[in-house]
Amino acid sequence: MSKKDHWESVYKEKSAIEVSWYQKEPTISLSLIRSLPLEKDEYVIDVGGGFSTLADYLLEDGYNNITVLDLSSNALAFSKKRLGGKADLINWKVEDVTNHAPGQNYSLWHDRAVFHFLTEKNDREKYKKVLETSVRDGGYVIIATFSIGGPKKCSGLDIVQYDAEKLQKELGGSFKLIEELSEKHITPRGKEQLFGYYVFTKNA
Ligand SMILES: C[S@@+](CC[C@H](N)C(=O)[O-])C[C@H]1O[C@@H](n2cnc3c(N)ncnc32)[C@H](O)[C@@H]1O
Repeated sequence: MSKKDHWESVYKEKSAIEVSWYQKEPTISLSLIRSLPLEKDEYVIDVGGGFSTLADYLLEDGYNNITVLDLSSNALAFSKKRLGGKADLINWKVEDVTNHAPGQNYSLWHDRAVFHFLTEKNDREKYKKVLETSVRDGGYVIIATFSIGGPKKCSGLDIVQYDAEKLQKELGGSFKLIEELSEKHITPRGKEQLFGYYVFTKNA
């Protein structure tokens, strides 16, 4: 099964509150984003946004150049439905993040639990190239992954666990780690999952 087919079927078969990564509110992402010196008209993107309500909160906070990208059209269709009339305020992209070619530079790149699915070096290299070309100098990158010691799989797929040092090494010298936080995420079935959130800035 291709990656796209996998994710389309996950979102066809499960509701938002059944998936293990479900969060009622993306609390840590929001607090990290709210601490950054961003203007509301700057370009922001949530890659692999899935069912996440992050975009809803960003809209409420006044951001007006939001993109949500995901491999799964089913996931984005659900999020559009949830947002109703406000969905038109968001730029939706059904795409593999490793092939993303934006027409502008993002000031904020947010990725919760997507990069860690890239188990092939070639895919990680492609992701890194996309980051380097699509985030503006001085822009911010927030990546949340399963931590070392956390789960080894998500949605039945192998993942790569990270800590700050390993992720910094992976992203290379164009990005500098400025903050990290950890989270014990509790899944809807009551399981604990150890996540790390890493904030980088792109070297000016
Ligand atoms: C574990 S879910 C996390 C969803 C969301 N970020 C959240 O925190 O609720 C991973 C998401 O990444 C998407 N995804 C996986 N691989 C992707 C890729 N190569 N390009 C774009 N999206 C991808 C999946 O469709 C899924 O929605």
